[in-house]
Amino acid sequence: MNQQLKGDIEQIIGPIHERSRLAEQGCTSEVSQVMTDKGSFLLKSSFQDKYREWLRTEAGVLERLRGEEVPVPRYQGFIEYKDSSHLLMSFEEGVSLSAALENANSDGARKSLIRAFGRFLLDLHQMKVPSLDSSPVWMDEQLAKAENYAKRGEADGSLELLQKLKEDKPAPVRQTMIHGDCNTDNILVLENGGLMWIDVAGMAIGDPRYDECLAIRKLRGYAEYIEAFYEGYTRYRVSEDEFTYFNNGLYEFF
Ligand SMILES: Nc1ncnc2c1ncn2[C@@H]1O[C@H](COP(=O)(O)OP(=O)(O)O)[C@@H](O)[C@H]1O
Ligand SMILES: [Mg+2]
Repeated sequence: MNQQLKGDIEQIIGPIHERSRLAEQGCTSEVSQVMTDKGSFLLKSSFQDKYREWLRTEAGVLERLRGEEVPVPRYQGFIEYKDSSHLLMSFEEGVSLSAALENANSDGARKSLIRAFGRFLLDLHQMKVPSLDSSPVWMDEQLAKAENYAKRGEADGSLELLQKLKEDKPAPVRQTMIHGDCNTDNILVLENGGLMWIDVAGMAIGDPRYDECLAIRKLRGYAEYIEAFYEGYTRYRVSEDEFTYFNNGLYEFF
């Protein structure tokens, strides 16, 4: 860690005793645990423009959620330089839901994690969070962002696919609080068994089907796991068409 970054971090959380890179790294960032007298903190650093933009958004979300009931890490600070950005938040002891599912020692244990995942998503979609922006046209905003990424060559999806997505928009549903990148890597299973959302740049008021489709994506083909998910997530079931729209469409751009 360079001296400038070290100094700026210490301004926020006090003198650093120890820093260690996490075994589980993200796709868009480098993550490490930093210990000071004030406690244990997670430092998330990004270096590419697109990911630095997401990190800045995530910092804004975490800052606005401080004091709200949404289970997310506590915001500590955000530092930006010419070539890098760094977000500081509370370090939460736990493992990702992906790792917990892999390590589950029985099918029953796995199903109960999946049920809890469904329930956790249900809670989020039913939450009222006034501090987050409510764009009446979340879907249109996503399509506009997708177009920017595609034009800059930063997306897997093509402009042709995007055009189809614009023409085939599913009938709107009531917007709710959403996570915006609802895969099992972005949920921590805490030591007390509770769950927590991480990687929250996309948290907003938006289309809950976006979360639901991503959540069930890897469970499809395992009828019992889908069942378990919907035992927890009892509010809605996406249709096959809705699933295809998100799964073979919008996700290709983010
Ligand atoms: N607040 C936190 N406390 C403890 N571990 C965390 C925390 N935030 C992230 N992690 C760990 O870092 C990994 C990557 O974080 P994430 O925010 O998902 O990064 P990316 O945006 O690159 O996917 C997670 O899988 C998790 O293991
Ligand atoms: Mg992540």
